[in-house]
Amino acid sequence: MNQRIYAIDAVTLSLQETQPPNLLIQVDARAISSGWRAPTLTAHHYRLPPKDGILAYDLTGTPPDSFATSLPVLTRVSADTVLKAVDLANFWGPDQPLAGVCCHAQSNTKQMLLQPRIGSPEILELPKLTLSEDIRPQYARDIRPLFRPYDIAMMIMVRDLDLGSYEAVCQYGELILARLKDGTMPSDGPWPASDIALFEHWLAQGKAP
Ligand code: HEM
Repeated sequence: MNQRIYAIDAVTLSLQETQPPNLLIQVDARAISSGWRAPTLTAHHYRLPPKDGILAYDLTGTPPDSFATSLPVLTRVSADTVLKAVDLANFWGPDQPLAGVCCHAQSNTKQMLLQPRIGSPEILELPKLTLSEDIRPQYARDIRPLFRPYDIAMMIMVRDLDLGSYEAVCQYGELILARLKDGTMPSDGPWPASDIALFEHWLAQGKAP
């Protein structure tokens, strides 16, 4: 059962300059012990747009199977998610902008505002991440390190699919992407959304070696 992670230290928002842009939300947090898996940001569901225009997330993770075998020390975890093709000015409807993002942990909530507000100290200049031709993702530099030796060994064993091979990852790229996106692979917890977006971007940009 997923539980809220102990405390959030920082929420970072950045805009990926795709057309239309993506908003990347990254959270640095601490868990109460080692051994927490799959830290995940889950957006609240809204029937009506919130009055303050702020989109809320819960930060949860899977606690260790047994606290007896985990270390009782505050342990850094991070999670991220991507809002794809986001129209910041009309996020909630025509002329209803996204005002910011807030994330709830077990013991605190942190908020980052996107627009300057009178009286608010949290005026944010969005750093721009430009995904241009010159930083086109490359397999050897950007994609290959995403696969752990464990993933490679298991997938060779169960499906004869060598995730360490450029040719195989090219050939089965769409199948791999589908399993990454539906969260069923890797089997022990999904990739951060930013890694999935990177993999998707690499496929879309022509699978550079
Ligand atoms: C980034 C890591 C991984 C990726 C991208 C990945 C990808 C995939 C894909 C694309 C399939 C479907 C293959 C087919 O239909 O022929 C699959 C199946 C499978 N994978 Fe993985 N895998 C990953 C990690 C793992 C790990 C760590 C394990 C085991 C500990 C695992 C166990 C399995 C098993 C048992 C199947 C067959 C059952 C099923 O389709 O769900 N995989 N994986």
